[in-house]
Amino acid sequence: MAINAISGPVSNGQDQSAKRKEAEVAKEAASEEAPGYGDGVEYWNKRYRGDPNPFEWLESFTELESLIKEATAGRTDATVLHVGCGSSLLPEAMYDHGYKDVTNVDIAEVCIQQMAERNRTLRPELKWFEMDATEMGLIESSFDTVIDKSVLDTFACGDNASSVINKYLLEAKQMMERCRPEKRLRALCTVGLVQLPLVAR
Ligand SMILES: C[S@@+](CC[C@H](N)C(=O)[O-])C[C@H]1O[C@@H](n2cnc3c(N)ncnc32)[C@H](O)[C@@H]1O
Repeated sequence: MAINAISGPVSNGQDQSAKRKEAEVAKEAASEEAPGYGDGVEYWNKRYRGDPNPFEWLESFTELESLIKEATAGRTDATVLHVGCGSSLLPEAMYDHGYKDVTNVDIAEVCIQQMAERNRTLRPELKWFEMDATEMGLIESSFDTVIDKSVLDTFACGDNASSVINKYLLEAKQMMERCRPEKRLRALCTVGLVQLPLVAR
C-alpha cells in the first residue's frame, strides 16, 4: 500500500474559533502529560459529548485538497474510506467538492451519531459507522482510497502502540486490496504530533 505521509503544524485557520482550536491542540501537544488518548473510546466519547461542534485536527480540506486529488487519481467517484473521522469537516468538504462515496468510521459512537445527524439532509450519501479501525472486517465494501487524518498519531500515543498500528495498517491494506489492482489507488495519512518512521510513500 502506498501511503502519503505529511507532517507539520496544525492548520492556519482564518477565524478566531480556528485560532482557539489551534491553541488547544498545541497546548495538548506541548503538555508533559499524556493527553488521555490511551483511555480509548471513553476519552473520545466524553470529548465529543462535551463539544459537539466540528473540530479539525491538523490540516483542513483546503490544505489537503491536492493530496486528496492525488490519492484518488483525480476521480471524485473514488470509493473512499475515511478512518477515525471524529467531528472533522473533511467529509463534508469532500462531499461538497464532488466526493460522494465516502464511508466514515470512528470508534466513538457519540461523534458518529452527531456527524450522521448533522449531514442527514444536506449530504445523504455520506456513510457513518461506529467501528474499531483495527477490526474493520465487518465492512463489506472495498475502497479505492483510505484516508487517515491524525489517527495514527492517536494510536502512537496509546498503549501497545506498535502492535495496534501494525494491526490497523494491515486492516487498511486489506480494505484496499479487495479492489481490483488496476483500480487501487493510495492511502493518505496525515501525522502531526509524532513522526512515524514506518509511514513512507
Ligand atoms: C485526533 S482525532 C482525529 C479526528 C479527525 N480525523 C480529524 O482529523 O479531525 C482521532 C480520532 O480517532 C478516533 N479513534 C481512536 N481510536 C480509534 C479506533 N481504534 N478506531 C477508529 N477510530 C478511532 C477517535 O475517536 C478520534 O475521533
